[in-house]
Amino acid sequence: MRTSDIIRKKREGDSLSPDEIRHLIQGYAKGEIPDYQLSAWAMAVFFQGMDERETADLTMEMVRSGDVVDLSAIQGVKVDKHSTGGVGDTTTLVLGPMVAAVGVPVAKLSGRGLGHTGGTIDKLESFPGFSTSLSTTAFVRQVNDLGIAVMGQTAALTPADKQLYALRDVTATVDSIPLIASSIMSKKIAAGADAIVLDVKTGGGAFMKAEERARELAEAMVRIGTHVNRRTVAVISDMDQPLGRAVGNALEVREAIDTLRGEGPADLTELCLELGAHMVVLGGRADTPEEAKQRLKACLADGSALEMFRRFVQAQGGDARAIDHPELLPQADHVVEVTADRSGTVSALESETIGLCAMKLGAGRETKESDIDYGVGVVLEKKVGDPVREGDVLAVLHVRKGGPVDEVTEKLRFAIRIENHAVSAPVLIKGVVTP
Ligand code: URA
Ligand code: CA
Repeated sequence: MRTSDIIRKKREGDSLSPDEIRHLIQGYAKGEIPDYQLSAWAMAVFFQGMDERETADLTMEMVRSGDVVDLSAIQGVKVDKHSTGGVGDTTTLVLGPMVAAVGVPVAKLSGRGLGHTGGTIDKLESFPGFSTSLSTTAFVRQVNDLGIAVMGQTAALTPADKQLYALRDVTATVDSIPLIASSIMSKKIAAGADAIVLDVKTGGGAFMKAEERARELAEAMVRIGTHVNRRTVAVISDMDQPLGRAVGNALEVREAIDTLRGEGPADLTELCLELGAHMVVLGGRADTPEEAKQRLKACLADGSALEMFRRFVQAQGGDARAIDHPELLPQADHVVEVTADRSGTVSALESETIGLCAMKLGAGRETKESDIDYGVGVVLEKKVGDPVREGDVLAVLHVRKGGPVDEVTEKLRFAIRIENHAVSAPVLIKGVVTP
């Protein structure tokens, strides 16, 4: 098999056979195929696309390039959730305990964040003592005993995807639906998922800014899942403004606790119920999303979701007293209010800039080596569609002594836009894609 023939075939718009895809991906992972040949192939894919079968084959070859987590010792259907990435996205912290409380096993591998705020692990580590370095045996045991565990990703999952992503990043080939879809799905499958719920974000703060592209990506991922026997559902949700109000690690933990008490922000609660409902259906604990939603709401109302969170934090060594006494969580030195310099209606909250502000305050990593400050961040007091009067508090900064308050205040004022005309609050759930 000659690599240049395979590249030519894709360049001409033909489908590659399973063997040809295996040759490319395994050859690349082993270092036998050079970057320049894989770059040429990625560009050919960018222009010619891939059909459903090819995309599924590419996904599974990336899965095979590395370790695959074996969760077969865990009883029940393991349903994983993936978000294409947002700002202040606190959903995992809420969803995990919520769906575990209705009996869907949650066996989650998570990573640390790079950029605007921390990842799920960073947020959980806001609890003093919390550890995600479990052995696989302890991880499996905890899921079977308690119903939920979160482990830091140590195994070398999908190395071919990591290499290919780095290559795409510097060859202008990231923005290809089949390449993105296979990249995301390969990571979930390698992490041991039987079924997958995807939260595909759209809008200013999202990877896929246009709703039409987000829908195409969602459909491509659902098709891959169906093809490889992992039931997959995708929810398309708005990321034109940050989710909930808090952006920052311990601040988001507080927000998650409020939400598990049934007192969280409306948008975060709505999205968690929607995603959770599909997880519960795929996990076989309800027949319809409506029935699943009722069960989840009952878990919030009777305190069992919060109790699950408490036991989960405790099981992983965290100080669970912080759930009732949030002052035990890391806190900033002081708060600074950002006020409106005019009256009107909030018309836009630029998620990316707000995320960047939280990072500047120390909530996120500028480089992989940076340390995170769990206590700092931004809490939004107004959301899109809210009326404001001059002098109203728009946001509260939680800062360290000597933090870049002036710089962040100025950026935030720019990110929170106010106009004279009325603006309606955006629709959060833009659609659901099922097989
Ligand atoms: N996120 C991924 O994991 N992969 C992509 O290709 C793009 C975004
Ligand atoms: Ca939030």
